[in-house]
Amino acid sequence: MYKIVNSAVLADNIVRMEIEAPRVATHCQPGQFLIVRLDDRGERIPLTICDYDRKAGTVTIVFQEVGASTVKMAALQTGDTFADVTGPLGKPSAFLSEDLLDLMDKKILFVAGGVGTAPVYPQVKWLHQNGVDVDVIVGAKNKDLVILEDEMKAVAGNLYITTDDGSYGRHGMVTQVIEDLIAEGNHYDQCIAIGPMIMMKFTCLLTQKLGIPTIVSMNPIMVDGTGMCGACRLMVGGKVQFACVDGPEFAGNLVDFDQAMKRQTLYKTEEGRAMLKLKEGDTHHGGCGQCGGEA
Ligand code: NAD
Ligand code: FES
Repeated sequence: MYKIVNSAVLADNIVRMEIEAPRVATHCQPGQFLIVRLDDRGERIPLTICDYDRKAGTVTIVFQEVGASTVKMAALQTGDTFADVTGPLGKPSAFLSEDLLDLMDKKILFVAGGVGTAPVYPQVKWLHQNGVDVDVIVGAKNKDLVILEDEMKAVAGNLYITTDDGSYGRHGMVTQVIEDLIAEGNHYDQCIAIGPMIMMKFTCLLTQKLGIPTIVSMNPIMVDGTGMCGACRLMVGGKVQFACVDGPEFAGNLVDFDQAMKRQTLYKTEEGRAMLKLKEGDTHHGGCGQCGGEA
């Protein structure tokens, strides 16, 4: 059993939990995810790791109540337990394998959209702790939905907050802030954008025009997170990839977002899944290559 040592509501329907999971905490890296299960029969829920404390043996997750399982999860209190916490899974962020001196020479821009602020945080924190300060844009619908502001302020070089309705920070979407920063004379060598698919799509369209290579996280299309269900199949540079096994991070300009969003909608229904299975044949399922995936 995995004990919740701290549970807090960050905003409407958005919850942060710190969980005792010493093995995951020892081995996880920014960019990776874990899978939680409420009980033995519970749904597997893949969530990007938002923070970890190796000494305390804890990992932190942030999630939005979007379905029955996450609503049940949100009802758990400090002291309650999860049946399973499995991880770390997925590949760590690409910058972790870059030379630190090269990273220090780079100007990096993070773009965090809504709940996507949570997976951005450990990346910015790691870079800050290793002497690399980066700029961060956080976008939210309104003031009440801005999360982790103080935490991000403590690790970001410059933090730009923007809200769709202008109720806090700048007014407008994250793409407007990118344009403003470039117009103000800023230069970026690299962008890392994590948030809703539509945000990542439009950020990539813009950064491609601006000549800024951009990494995105395709966590939103995962279902079981184990490489077996085939839900997270996507096309990257014309090749079939699975977000949970080959990612979750990919070069954004190579991702076919329209296909991924259309497929995500189809995957939600039994009929849609049957159609995808028929069309995609042997490449329908995930990367394990052994189980044959869902029936
Ligand atoms: P949201 O809809 O409030 O959007 C957040 C910000 O994204 C907006 O404030 C805006 O600045 C920007 N944005 C939205 N649409 C845009 C567009 N068309 N062009 C440019 N910018 C745009 O976000 P939310 O409701 O918090 O998002 C929840 C979504 O985030 C879920 O779909 C979830 O799957 C996803 N998510 C993604 C990750 C990831 O790893 N990529 C992690 C956690 C959550
Ligand atoms: Fe099921 Fe990736 S989430 S195969």
